[in-house]
Amino acid sequence: MNDDAPPTFTLDGEDVPFEPGETIIAAARRAGFYVPHLCWHPDFPPHGSCRICTVRVDGRAAAACTTKAAAGQEVENRTEELDAHRKTMLQMLFVEGNHFCPSCEKSGNCVLQATAYEMGMEGPHFEEFYPNRPVDASHPDILLDFNRCILCELCVRASRDVDHKNVFAIGGHGIGSHLVVNAPSGKLGDTAMALGDRAADVCPVGVILTKRRGFVIPIGERRFDRHPISAEVGDEDAR
Ligand code: SF4
Ligand code: FES
Repeated sequence: MNDDAPPTFTLDGEDVPFEPGETIIAAARRAGFYVPHLCWHPDFPPHGSCRICTVRVDGRAAAACTTKAAAGQEVENRTEELDAHRKTMLQMLFVEGNHFCPSCEKSGNCVLQATAYEMGMEGPHFEEFYPNRPVDASHPDILLDFNRCILCELCVRASRDVDHKNVFAIGGHGIGSHLVVNAPSGKLGDTAMALGDRAADVCPVGVILTKRRGFVIPIGERRFDRHPISAEVGDEDAR
């Protein structure tokens, strides 16, 4: 046995080396394995809210983005049971907002849509809520379409921790939770948000969009048109 070899856990039966303190999802990704996720991003501390990354660790359900890897752990990831749960959670997210993929600028670049394809989701299954969420077009360069927000808080984290502007927050509780803009008017145009901000390009779905740049990359040539999300793990630009 080589004492210098890193400790490992198994992911669906494959050995995955990890560094001390590393989470299951980060180690898996480094080793080239896809663990489905929405609110996790390699550039940000884990948030643990969407639960799409739920795996079984030695038989017990756990979030792969917040659970630290440990030597000898047996982790189940892409099992029929776990992917079925993921599909159900995705279907609930789809009906909670207004996700009209064919008319969305983010279609083909959307992590929610790509994850739904990966889980074999073909329809919403549940009754649609059709909430009434007006868009915010008050900013000269950025459009906010709240209809697609999945409350991952990546924009909140990016604006607070990277841009140091604190433009976004989540308001309300439970089913009433929603994205808010931190301005007395509640309008993006009354904040310091700028196109170069990290928060302007971090949204995994089609909420935070650049104005006057729609459909620059044609449908059919976009990120997830070229390959499924599970095939991106070795791509450092991917999340
Ligand atoms: Fe996440 Fe986008 Fe909603 Fe922000 S606007 S919480 S990045 S889905
Ligand atoms: Fe782990 Fe969202 S990716 S809870």
